Amino acid sequence: MSDLLAHGVLAGLDEIASIGRDAQRGGYSRHVWQSADHELRDWFVERAERLGLAAETDRNGNIWAWWGPPGPNAIVTGSHLDSVPGGGAYDGPLGIVSALDAIARLQATGVTPSRPCAILVFAEEEGSRFGIACLGSRLMTGALDADRARALVDADGVTLADAAAHAGLDPARLGTDRLALDRIGLFIELHVEQGRGLIDLGHPVAVASRVLAHGRWRLTVTGQGNHAGATLMTDRRDPMVAAARAVLAVQQAATMRPDTRATIGRMNIVPGGTNVIPSRVEAWLDARAETDEETRALLGDITTAVDAAVAENGCSVAMVEESWADAVHFDPQLRERFSAALDGVPALPTGAGHDAGVLAASVPSAMLFVRNPTGISHSPEEFASADDCIAGVEALEKLLRTLL
Ligand code: HGY
Ligand code: MN
Ligand code: MN
Repeated sequence: MSDLLAHGVLAGLDEIASIGRDAQRGGYSRHVWQSADHELRDWFVERAERLGLAAETDRNGNIWAWWGPPGPNAIVTGSHLDSVPGGGAYDGPLGIVSALDAIARLQATGVTPSRPCAILVFAEEEGSRFGIACLGSRLMTGALDADRARALVDADGVTLADAAAHAGLDPARLGTDRLALDRIGLFIELHVEQGRGLIDLGHPVAVASRVLAHGRWRLTVTGQGNHAGATLMTDRRDPMVAAARAVLAVQQAATMRPDTRATIGRMNIVPGGTNVIPSRVEAWLDARAETDEETRALLGDITTAVDAAVAENGCSVAMVEESWADAVHFDPQLRERFSAALDGVPALPTGAGHDAGVLAASVPSAMLFVRNPTGISHSPEEFASADDCIAGVEALEKLLRTLL
C-alpha cells in the first residue's frame, strides 16, 4: 500500500470507492436502505468494530459507533454516507472516514476518552430517496413529524415505513429520540467544502459560521395530454412548455435577488412519450437565501412568475412545500474556540445543508470544512486533495483531543 494510502482517511475513501458507482450518471448514487447504502453501513460497522467501537443503529436508522460506554455529554462526530444521484465521493463519506481516522490516531497515541465519544452516521442526509434532506437528524430532533415521514414514498411508490421495516427497523418507533439527543454533549461534523471559500482564502480547513435557509417545493403543472402529430400548435395546452417557462422564471427571480439561489434540477414528465404532448409535469424547486425571510420573499416572486407563465400556456400549477430548514448560525463561542484551537482557521458560511445544522437547534454543534479545489459538489468533479484530507483529519483529531 502506498504511504499516502497508509493514512486512514485515504485508505477509507479508497475502500468504499467502488460502492454505489452510477455508470449511467457518473459519480455515485447511494440512497438510504438500498444496496449501496447497506454495503456502506456494513463497511462502516466493520471499520468501527476494528477500532473497538460498539456499533448500534438507532430507531431512525442512524448508526452510532461508541468509543467507551454510551452516555450523557458525549463528544459525537460524524456525517452521512448517502449521496445525491450521481454525486461525488466526498460529500458525507469524508466526514465518516475522517472520524474513523481521527479516533484511530487518538488510540494510537494512548488516548482513552475522559467522556463518552461516538461516531454518528446519519440516514438519508441528501433526501434523495424520500425527498426530505437530513431525514435521520430531523426525525431524531423532532424537526420532522414521524407520521409524515412514515407516509413518504420513493420513486417506486415504496413508503418510508415499509423501507424502514425492510431494513430491520420498527416504523412505529421512528421519531424524536430524546435518549439519543440527551447523550450528545457536542456534535462536530467534518465535511468537504461545497464552494470556493477555502480556495480563495488559501486555507485547507475552516470552521462553519452559518447555513443558508433552505426550502424544497414540488410543482405539478397540468395541461392537456394529446397527440404530437395530430394537435395543431394553436390547440395545445402543453405543460412541458409551461414548465420550461417556469424554470426560466425561477432563474430570473433568483438572479434578481442578490445571493439567493433557486434550482429546478429534477423533473418528471407524464406520460413521457416522444410522440406525446405531456398531460402533467412535476418539477422540484430548491430555493435558498441568507435568511428565512429572504427565502420566503424569493418564493413569493417565484410563485407569482410561475403562475403567470403557466397561465399563459393554458395550464394550471400546484406548488407544495416538501421541506423547510431555517437558516442556522452556529454557536459563535464554540466556533471561536475551535478556530483558536486550530491556530486561527477562518470561519465560512455554507449554502449547503447539513445534519450539524439540524442538530444545532438541539445540542451544541459545529462544523469543519476541508478545501475542495474544484469548488464543485453534488457532481463527480467534487474533490479534496490527499494533503487537505489529512489536514482535515489532523484538525479533527486536535479538536477531539482537546475535548476528550
Ligand atoms: O442539499 C444540501 O444542501 C445538502 O447537500 N443535503
Ligand atoms: Mn450534499
Ligand atoms: Mn453532505
